[in-house]
Amino acid sequence: MSIAEDTDGTRRDFLNYATVGAATVATGAAIWPLIDQMNPSADVMAFSVMLVDVGSLEVGTQITVKWQGKPVFIRRRSEADISLARSIRLNDLVDPIARNANRDPKADASDANRTLDEAGEWLVQMGVCTHLGCVPIGDGAGDFGGWFCPCHGSHYDSAGRIRKGPAPENLPVPIARFVDETTIQLGEVA
Ligand code: FES
Repeated sequence: MSIAEDTDGTRRDFLNYATVGAATVATGAAIWPLIDQMNPSADVMAFSVMLVDVGSLEVGTQITVKWQGKPVFIRRRSEADISLARSIRLNDLVDPIARNANRDPKADASDANRTLDEAGEWLVQMGVCTHLGCVPIGDGAGDFGGWFCPCHGSHYDSAGRIRKGPAPENLPVPIARFVDETTIQLGEVA
């Protein structure tokens, strides 16, 4: 079992929650020392790009990668995941905003506004509970078939939207896109 990490590579506690396939990762590590010497913290963040090979990720499973020091969940959703998420009415959501860095900041939290692709098969989101920052358990955990944060009992659905518990917001979706059929890029070069 292996897991991808970014250049930091110091903390592994979130590995306990990871379901890892044979996915491989390439990072922008080569440019890190040069940028670090210049010490422009904002620029370092902008250049922190990670490429994740998801070609071996099976339907209905997920991997966790570490990016910018935080876990990121990449889930290849099953038909059941998708139809469950799309059956939810917006009025039933705790947080009505998509929280998707790839969309308009005011976009609603419909399932289509949360996923990477139109079909809704790919969901990429930060693995950090919006309550106090714990790492939720995934793979259909909780009362809504998504993720569950046992710290204080926050339940997220299969689109990563908060449905029950103290967390105030949906799990954030970071800047991400497919750069080819099997590779997801996290972040972007400024
Ligand atoms: S940190 Fe997730 S419920 Fe408290």
